Amino acid sequence: MESIVVENISKYFWARVTTSESKPSWFKRLIFGNSLAKEVRVARITALKSVSFTVGKGEIFGILGPNGSGKTTLLKILATALLPDEGDAYICGYSVVKEASKVRKLISTNFSLIVNSFWTARQALEYWCTLNNVDSAEAVHKVNEVLDEVGLSERADEIVARYSMGMQSRLFLASSLMLDREVYLLDEPLLGIDPIAAKELRETIKRKAREGKTVVLATNLIRDVEELCDKVCVLYRSRVVALESPEVLKKTIGAYECVYVTLSSLDSSVLLKLTDFNEVLDLSIVRQDNLLETKIITNDTIKVLYLLLDLVKLNKGKIISIKIAEPILEDALIELLKKRCEYENRETA
Ligand SMILES: Nc1ncnc2c1ncn2[C@@H]1O[C@H](COP(=O)(O)OP(=O)(O)O)[C@@H](O)[C@H]1O
Ligand SMILES: [Mg+2]
Repeated sequence: MESIVVENISKYFWARVTTSESKPSWFKRLIFGNSLAKEVRVARITALKSVSFTVGKGEIFGILGPNGSGKTTLLKILATALLPDEGDAYICGYSVVKEASKVRKLISTNFSLIVNSFWTARQALEYWCTLNNVDSAEAVHKVNEVLDEVGLSERADEIVARYSMGMQSRLFLASSLMLDREVYLLDEPLLGIDPIAAKELRETIKRKAREGKTVVLATNLIRDVEELCDKVCVLYRSRVVALESPEVLKKTIGAYECVYVTLSSLDSSVLLKLTDFNEVLDLSIVRQDNLLETKIITNDTIKVLYLLLDLVKLNKGKIISIKIAEPILEDALIELLKKRCEYENRETA
């Protein structure tokens, strides 16, 4: 049974942007001063474009993407805190657009807790219970239980303003897990939490799913989706570029390596010849003084190294350093996006 259905959601924001290129006239600068005279225009930002997926009951569904890819916007729409501009989503069959009050009774998020900075974590959680109609006797028990679960019991009576980022993340996660709901919407719940504690908290999240609850988790860490999720939706620049299991995703991403090469006495146009080869998936070159900092994403490192050595030898260049590393998430996403574009082009050809 599907617990969440997302159908073609798009969301746009209007934001004021200052255009640095435009030069205000001397008169404007004289009247308004330099900063105010800057040209300000309103631009439409696409935060989500035609996003669709489904999540089964009891599943942990990951939304993976770099900063600004639309994860928070998507979770806010599912939580009825924002309305989509196009499309709709259904939580246990209820529309987030037309039946928001019903949806709100079914979900719990880690981004809704209101905290006054002079409150302690315990006070904030007890207040949260009151707002959510939890019986006061039960609230005391629930708060103790959840504080223990997220490892905050010993620090529960300190004011939240003094909490570190990781401790705040634990508190927000606690506020979500404390409520008994069908669907948990978690936005980067393990942000700033140390690896050992994060491992334990992943177990806590998994337990919810084992109890038959559905979890949607936004993150920019592959580790989170690998260890937690049944299915992953990869967002890149507001669009879904992949929708698959973490195993398949890891295979796709794991097939690539990044070769970082620093060269000297070589012209960058020589290196551009590398892009003629299919094994070179992406090439970026930055010139610093007389050094060329080159980054190559490839699915065949050995071949690329041979090609590179040939080019350097032929053109009498010099290699200063070579480093081989796994690509970061952003690189892997670019590859997924490229593949999708190639696929779409083939489909339309
Ligand atoms: N209230 C807003 N007003 C204008 N732009 C916004 C607003 N909220 C988000 N955005 C923009 O929408 C895009 C997606 O943001 P967000 O959903 O926060 O991404 P993520 O959570 O993946 O980092 C970004 O370009 C961001 O700047
Ligand atoms: Mg976010």
